Amino acid sequence: MAETPIPIVPAAPAFDAAGTPFSPAYGDVYHSADSGPGQAKHVFLGGNDLPSRWARARVFTILETGFGLGLNFLATWQAWRADPARPERLHFVSVEKHPFAREGLAALHARYPEFAPLAAQLQAAWPLPLPGLHRMHFEAGRVTLTLAFADVADVLPKLRLAADAIYLDGFAPDRNPGMWTPAVMKALARLACPGATTATYTTARAVRDALAAAGFVPELRPGFGRKRHMLAARFSPLRPPRHASPPAPRWSERRAIVVGAGLAGAAVCERLAAHGWAIELVERHAAPAAEASGMPAGSFHPPVSRDDSILSRLTRSGFLYAIDCWRALETGGRRFAWAQCGVMQIARDAREEKRMADSVRALGNPAGYVDYLPPAEAGRRRGLAARTGGLWFPAGGWVRPVELIAALLDDARPGLTFHPGRTVNALECDGNRWRALAADGTPIAAASVVVLANSHDATRLVPHGVELKCVRGQLTCLPPGSINPPGMVLAGAGLLMPAADGAAVVGSTYDFEDEDPEPRVSGHAGNLERLELLLPGSAARLDPARLAGTVGFRCVTPDRLPLIGSLPDAGAARANPAARSGKWTQGLPRLNGLYGAFGYASRGLTWAALGGELIASMLEGEPLPLEGDLADAVDPARFLLRRARRGGS
Ligand SMILES: Cc1cc2nc3c(=O)[nH]c(=O)nc-3n(C[C@H](O)[C@H](O)[C@H](O)COP(=O)(O)OP(=O)(O)OC[C@H]3O[C@@H](n4cnc5c(N)ncnc54)[C@H](O)[C@@H]3O)c2cc1C
Ligand SMILES: C[S@@+](CC[C@H](N)C(=O)[O-])C[C@H]1O[C@@H](n2cnc3c(N)ncnc32)[C@H](O)[C@@H]1O
Repeated sequence: MAETPIPIVPAAPAFDAAGTPFSPAYGDVYHSADSGPGQAKHVFLGGNDLPSRWARARVFTILETGFGLGLNFLATWQAWRADPARPERLHFVSVEKHPFAREGLAALHARYPEFAPLAAQLQAAWPLPLPGLHRMHFEAGRVTLTLAFADVADVLPKLRLAADAIYLDGFAPDRNPGMWTPAVMKALARLACPGATTATYTTARAVRDALAAAGFVPELRPGFGRKRHMLAARFSPLRPPRHASPPAPRWSERRAIVVGAGLAGAAVCERLAAHGWAIELVERHAAPAAEASGMPAGSFHPPVSRDDSILSRLTRSGFLYAIDCWRALETGGRRFAWAQCGVMQIARDAREEKRMADSVRALGNPAGYVDYLPPAEAGRRRGLAARTGGLWFPAGGWVRPVELIAALLDDARPGLTFHPGRTVNALECDGNRWRALAADGTPIAAASVVVLANSHDATRLVPHGVELKCVRGQLTCLPPGSINPPGMVLAGAGLLMPAADGAAVVGSTYDFEDEDPEPRVSGHAGNLERLELLLPGSAARLDPARLAGTVGFRCVTPDRLPLIGSLPDAGAARANPAARSGKWTQGLPRLNGLYGAFGYASRGLTWAALGGELIASMLEGEPLPLEGDLADAVDPARFLLRRARRGGS
C-alpha cells in the first residue's frame, strides 16, 4: 500500500534577539550563539576525530540528522579541501524535514563569509523542496551531498549506506524529542559501520541512554563556547544490528564490460568512469544509439500521482538527477541538443483533469516542479481555446538522445574502450573474471564486472525470471514550416516535441506483437490524429503518405519499472526455496559481478542517469542515491520472489 504523501514545508529565515538563526516552529536556534562554524568544527568534526580519522580512506561517509543551514556540511567540505590526506571521495548524507528555499539559504549564508565560495556552489545546486533523496556532486564528483527531504523517523530506515561518522544535530531534545528517540538511535545503529563514531552538542541524559541502548559508547568531552560538555560516542555493539548494510564488494580490478551503447549503457559508462572505472563497451552495431535510443527526439517529464506512487517517486528522482547530470555535462564543455522548454500534459477529459488538479493540491509540490493549469491558462500558453486544463512541468523538455549518448561517452573517455560491431553471444566466468564471448567463442573483453544494458537481449544472456515485452513505437518527423509548433513539449494523447532546427516530432504508436522495423503510413496517420488532439487544426494539411519517421522497440517489464542492480542467480534461487520464501529480495543469491540496467520502457531519458549512479554506488559500496524501497522496486531479483509467492518455480 502506498503511503500518504506528506508535502515538504520549507522553513523561512528568522533570528532570535541575539541575531542567531532561529526556528519559531521549534523554539530553538540553528547553532550555538557563540558561532555556527566554530560549533561545526569543534563539536561535529572534532567530536568525530576528523579530519584525522578519514586520512587516506578511499571513501568516507558522514550521516547527519538535521541539515539546517548546511554549516556542518560546509565546514566538513572545507576541511576536506584543506587536508592533503583527504579521502578520495567524501559522501555527506543529511536528513532535513524543513529545508530553506534557495533564496533563504543564500541570505543566511551571507552571514558566514568564510564559507562563501563553497556556499555559492551549494546554493547553485540546491534542490526544490520535494520529498525524497536529492544527490549533488561537487569537486568533480569527489564530494557528494545526498539530502533526504523527509522526517528522520521515516527515512532513516529506508537509507542504504554505511556511515563512518554521524553528526546528531537536531534541535534540542526538549524542543524536538522526535529527532532523539531510541528508535532513531536504533535506526542510526543499523547505518553505522563497525567502529563508526558520532558526536552531538547535547549531553541530555535521554540521548546518552538511547545511544548506549543502540550500541554506542558515549563519553563526555569539553563542549563548545559556553557549553561545558558535549557528547562523543563510538559504535561498539555487543552484536551487529539486524539488517545492517552489507560490506562493500571487493573487486580484483575496477574494470567493467558494458553491453549495449544506448541510453542505459552510455549513462552507466559515464557514471562508472566518474567513479574511476575502466570500461569495455560492446555494441553490436557500428555506432552507439542504433536501436530504441536512436529516436530523433525524446521528452522528459515525471508522472504525478495523488498517492505519490513508487513510479512517481522513482521517476521524480530520475528526472531531477538527469537534469543535473546533463547540466554538468554542458558545464564540462559537452554539447548536445536539448531544451528545458517546459512540458504541458493536457488532460484528455474532465475526469483526468480533476485527477490532475486533486493530485497537485494533495502533493503540495512547488510550482517550479509541477503546476496545475486550468483550461483558459492551458489554452493561452499553447495559443488556442482549450477544453481541458493540464499539468505544467517548467523544468521538462526534450533531448536528442543520439547527441546525449555521444556526450556521455565522450565524458567517459579516456578510460573507455569501444568495441563496435561486436555481438556478445555468451558470458562466462572463470573465477573472479567475466568474459564476453563472440559467436565463435573468442573473447571480446574480460573484466571483474559486467553490466547488461542491452535491453531485450539481456534475458538471452542471463535468464533472470522476467518476461520482457517488446513494444514497437513509431515517431513522425514534421518538416520545418509544416506546423506552427508551440515553444514547449505537449503531452497527453500523444507527444509533440518542438525539436531544434524548426522540425517537430510527433508520436508515438504503441504496437504490441509487431516486429516491423519500417515506418508505416498507418503509423503516421495515427500520429497525425494525436497531433490534432494536442494542437487542434494542425494536422489537416499534412499527408501521412509523404511523411518520414523512425521506429524503435521499447523494452517493457510486467510492472513497468526498470531492472537496475545486481542480477539474481535464478538457478541457485530455485534450488534454495528458503531464500525465496522471504519478503525481501536482499536475501536472494546473486551472480557475483553481474549487473543489469534495462527495461527502461518509455522512460529511458528520465531513468538512465540515475540507473547508472545506482549501479556505480552499488559497485563501490557507497550510499545509494535512492531510498531502499525504491532500490527494491527496481531490483532485478523481484520477479523471482513474486513468482515464488504465486507458487511458481
Ligand atoms: C517511439 C519511441 C518513442 C520514445 N519516446 C521516449 C521519450 O519521449 N522519452 C523517453 O524517455 N523515452 C522514450 N522512449 C523510450 C526510450 O527510447 C528507451 O527507454 C531507451 O532508448 C532505452 O535505452 P536502452 O539503452 O535500454 O536500449 P537501446 O537503445 O535499445 O540500447 C540497447 C543496445 O544494446 C545493443 N545490444 C543488444 N544486444 C547486444 C549484444 N548481445 N551485444 C552487443 N550489443 C547488444 C543494441 O544494439 C542497442 O544499441 C521511446 C521509445 C520509442 C520506441
Ligand atoms: C540545529 S538545526 C541543524 C543545523 C545544521 N546541522 C547546520 O549545520 O546548519 C536542526 C535541523 O533539524 C531539522 N529537523 C527538525 N525536526 C526534524 C525531523 N523530524 N526530521 C528531519 N529534520 C528535522 C530542522 O528543520 C533543522 O533544520
